Amino acid sequence: MSFSDKDIAQFANLDTPFYYYDLTLLQKTLDACALAAKMSNFHVHYAMKANFNPTIVSRIKAVGFGADAVSGGEVGQAVELGFPANNIVFAGVGKSDKEINYALDQDIFCFNVESIQELEVINELAAKKGKTASVAIRINPNVDAHTHANITTGLDENKFGINSWDLPACADALRRLPNLQFVGIHFHIGSQITNLDVYKNLCVRVNEFATWFEERGFTVKVLNVGGGLGIDYHNPDQQIPDFGKYFKIFNDFLERKPSQEVHFELGRALVGQCSSLISKVLFVKNGKKKNFIILDAGMTELMRPALYQAYHQIQNISRPNTPIALNYDVVGPICESTDCFGKEVELPETFRNDLIAIRSTGAYGEVMSSHYNLRENVHVAFSE
Ligand code: LLP
Repeated sequence: MSFSDKDIAQFANLDTPFYYYDLTLLQKTLDACALAAKMSNFHVHYAMKANFNPTIVSRIKAVGFGADAVSGGEVGQAVELGFPANNIVFAGVGKSDKEINYALDQDIFCFNVESIQELEVINELAAKKGKTASVAIRINPNVDAHTHANITTGLDENKFGINSWDLPACADALRRLPNLQFVGIHFHIGSQITNLDVYKNLCVRVNEFATWFEERGFTVKVLNVGGGLGIDYHNPDQQIPDFGKYFKIFNDFLERKPSQEVHFELGRALVGQCSSLISKVLFVKNGKKKNFIILDAGMTELMRPALYQAYHQIQNISRPNTPIALNYDVVGPICESTDCFGKEVELPETFRNDLIAIRSTGAYGEVMSSHYNLRENVHVAFSE
């Protein structure tokens, strides 16, 4: 997403801060992913947690992807936006009875189950409704995703999934509980994964666990390998991830039987690059040691830098042809020292009312915004 003069003229009339979504880029990204997945006959469920803005999710539904929900709210939104129930999966380490009951009422495709106790509860609630719930077992494969510690999920010390040593008890539960239908195994080892070799290690583990279940008489129809494909935050204009390369790893390394389906739960790779957070400079403070740009957006609108020290490229779009002149700490207005989007960022000399774009904010941006400090809802704008 780069900004034309027309974009910038249009921005001048909008209230800041706002998330600016480029729907053309979104569509191109979705089409690239859909085509690459189709070549290998892979199924994609979009991880709604990355961005549940209805305009975005509707576009994703239109390319035929399913939905991966992590709360009753997300299941509800997927249903409302017209995803067929048999294309919705419900994951999450702590599903409440209310959420499970709701998903059972919708007859979703399957629950990705993260503990033996959860199996018992889903069975009990399904029995009360005279239903059979389809379940996939989320296994913690103890594979290092080599990403930020806060978004690693597949190691023994993480809270997610059922550990390998609990699988015998899990198999017993599946045999014992009559209102459950085992459909397959599920994995998700982390997010913003850029070293794709990690997925080879995951495939090896998926093969081992699939064999383990098959040897015990279970039919493993679904191999769900989760999501996690990263984007290049340092090159926001290099926009469409290499889905072909990513899917090829699973094609090459998964030992799938012809009867088995391979499912993916991509979030960030689909939506990350299609948005920038546009903010206005409120004040510039040039100090002896530091220069500060104070924006009207803060951690309340984009939490990733404060929460994970995440890098997002920052541009002064009001001065596109002006040479870099100074280093600034680019900060927000919130009463917290971590409310900082970047330190020592090289920018042209910047002035009050300049527009600043914080790039690559389509995933885990708008959806993680909050009302801390009683801030207003962040605004949203779309371009075709
Ligand atoms: N499936 C499961 C079970 C997940 O937990 C996640 C993300 C995904 C799929 C989608 O992962 P993706 O393809 O988007 O990497 N807020 C953090 C990211 C948290 C990811 C949580 N799980 C961030 O801003 O980096």
